[in-house]
Amino acid sequence: MNIESFFPKDIRKALSKEPPGSWMTAVPNGCIRLNSGYPAKELVPSKEIKEAVSRLLYEEQDLPLHYLGSPRMDNLKGQIQERLASRGMNISEEELLITAGACQAIDLIARILLDETAVVFVEAPTYMEALEVFQNYTNQIITIPIDKDGMQTAELEKMLMERKNEGLPNPRLLYTIPTFQNPTGTTLSQQRREHIMQLAKEYDFLILEDDAYGELAFRESPQTLKSLDTESRVLHVGSLSKVVAPGMRIGWVAAACQFITSLYWFKKDLDHPFSQSIMSAYLELVNFDQRTAVLAEKYEKKATALLNALTKHFPDSASWYHAAGGYFVWVKVPGVNTSEMLNQALKAGVAYVPGQYFFLNQEDGTEYLRLSFSYADVGEIERGVEILGEVIQSYLRK
Ligand SMILES: Cc1ncc(COP(=O)(O)O)c(C=O)c1O
Repeated sequence: MNIESFFPKDIRKALSKEPPGSWMTAVPNGCIRLNSGYPAKELVPSKEIKEAVSRLLYEEQDLPLHYLGSPRMDNLKGQIQERLASRGMNISEEELLITAGACQAIDLIARILLDETAVVFVEAPTYMEALEVFQNYTNQIITIPIDKDGMQTAELEKMLMERKNEGLPNPRLLYTIPTFQNPTGTTLSQQRREHIMQLAKEYDFLILEDDAYGELAFRESPQTLKSLDTESRVLHVGSLSKVVAPGMRIGWVAAACQFITSLYWFKKDLDHPFSQSIMSAYLELVNFDQRTAVLAEKYEKKATALLNALTKHFPDSASWYHAAGGYFVWVKVPGVNTSEMLNQALKAGVAYVPGQYFFLNQEDGTEYLRLSFSYADVGEIERGVEILGEVIQSYLRK
């Protein structure tokens, strides 16, 4: 029997690509993990979550373990609405859909909006899992370069104008991570935020705003695109993975009711009532503003350690952006093929993610690497960058 013959054409095409997550480095034991986009171990609130689980099961017994789950799932919506309101987004209950993480949200949005006729604009570089998702639905992906102030909206405008002049269709969707971007750590300037909103109106496209890191500002988080959205063009996606615990997979979409209803059609009840109920019980226990203040302080210290170590140990030819929040620093090392060098780095005891995986055209990422300051501790970060500096020097001498 030929199993493949049962798969529809689109599925066969998707399966012919690299498997999802193939960018993930297999990290040997003892290696310093400057590759992982995970929260620091000590900042995952396992004690409080344990308390939340006990309280939940004591108060509600079997209820959160059923398909329909507990009333706390509705409370979770209210708790998220409050967080969104504190950042200038007044979202009604009908405009909010809880999902199994931001990834499920992105996948559902792609499912209801994209097909092979759809053109999607993304940043270059961008979050590779989103790229993987979009590629499952369309081949028409166009990239807009990033600089230290995020997506270059002048380039975006130029491309939109060129397409119009050539009679090509407008994009249906623009995917952006405007705040503390993955992988570059950059934040879109206010002026560019307003420019994007103006272009969306002029060229009639939707925006998927991925705000997975938006609550992780060292100082202040900028205005979201959603809070500038007067026309319901923005589908705002958020997540508690980076600020609470990724394994709980709690994310959401905040968007116009009609989008939410359509997304719900496909999500159905395919998420996790128990996880949502625990998250709500956990949020009842904590002062979230205090928590984000602690996270900001700790992550800023780690980011500073990483940036100082880069200045000390990387060659003068290397350059990087200064993140004002989030998890990542994006480094360019001229003359180095970062994919080729990875094995040497792993052998020497440090892991990073080679830049190629964040680009549609992978060759554009050859000289870049993504370093994360979220997971390793300050000592490991300093040592890891020192080792990586030595690996780079020896690579360049070859
Ligand atoms: C930009 C971006 N969006 C979404 C996600 C995934 O979030 P979640 O764990 O909520 O699915 C990540 C995780 O790395 C991310 O970097």
